[in-house]
Amino acid sequence: MRIIACKDYAEMSCAAANILAAQIYLKPQAVLGLATGSTPVGLYKELIAKHEAGVLSFAQVRTVNLDEYKGLAPTHDQSYRYFMQHNLFDHIDIRPENTNVPDGLAADAEAECGRYDALRETLGRTDIQLLGLGRNGHIGFNEPGPVFVKPTHVVDLTPSTIDANARFFASQADVPRQAITMGIGYIMQARQILVVASGSDKAEAVYQMICGAVDPQVPASILQLHPNVTLVADEAALSKAVEAGVSVCG
Ligand code: GLP
Repeated sequence: MRIIACKDYAEMSCAAANILAAQIYLKPQAVLGLATGSTPVGLYKELIAKHEAGVLSFAQVRTVNLDEYKGLAPTHDQSYRYFMQHNLFDHIDIRPENTNVPDGLAADAEAECGRYDALRETLGRTDIQLLGLGRNGHIGFNEPGPVFVKPTHVVDLTPSTIDANARFFASQADVPRQAITMGIGYIMQARQILVVASGSDKAEAVYQMICGAVDPQVPASILQLHPNVTLVADEAALSKAVEAGVSVCG
């Protein structure tokens, strides 16, 4: 795992955006695996700025998002489809039909999971998968559990995740209790994985991801088995790992 240490959130966002942009320069029709949450917002802003400056086009890019809350319409302001439209897609030249987010309103959620996994065949391997990190080490909405779940699946969110994500909803009771998430299989097939982490509340998860045992109780620990992972994190998120002696490049 290559670890890039950044001073703060702004530097992390720039560094991570440069890696994603480089992938698009190298392969204009790249398949990007995209993530939501507050951490990638800054890097999406950087990508929009590059597009507005006329140096980055998404005209041929295809995207596949990690997850969606079950029960939220795409127009709900806390749905991940809405997040992607407002934080990225509406500001770049991507074709709407080239963007994929699970359908949180699918009448048959299991069939929706199957449809999502079949995208792997249609789109081909993901060139670069962007991941944020839950405080409990979750990736996408793959929560801690007894096993790593490979396919796209419906997941019951843990109290830790409901609590962490309540800040975006009117009250904790409004946070959906379930989500549809890409499984570990789809995530791990990506050619390259880019993890972003910021802030001291991610320090334990970052430490466990890098230094802990590969254990489904810390889903991100599976990334130790991927041959091409880059973590871009700020000093606060890296604090515990650095204390433990992990070497980073600046
Ligand atoms: C949600 C998303 C994850 C994201 C996590 C962390 O649970 N499903 O993909 O990584 O939140 O979000 P944040 O970046 O806001 O800390």
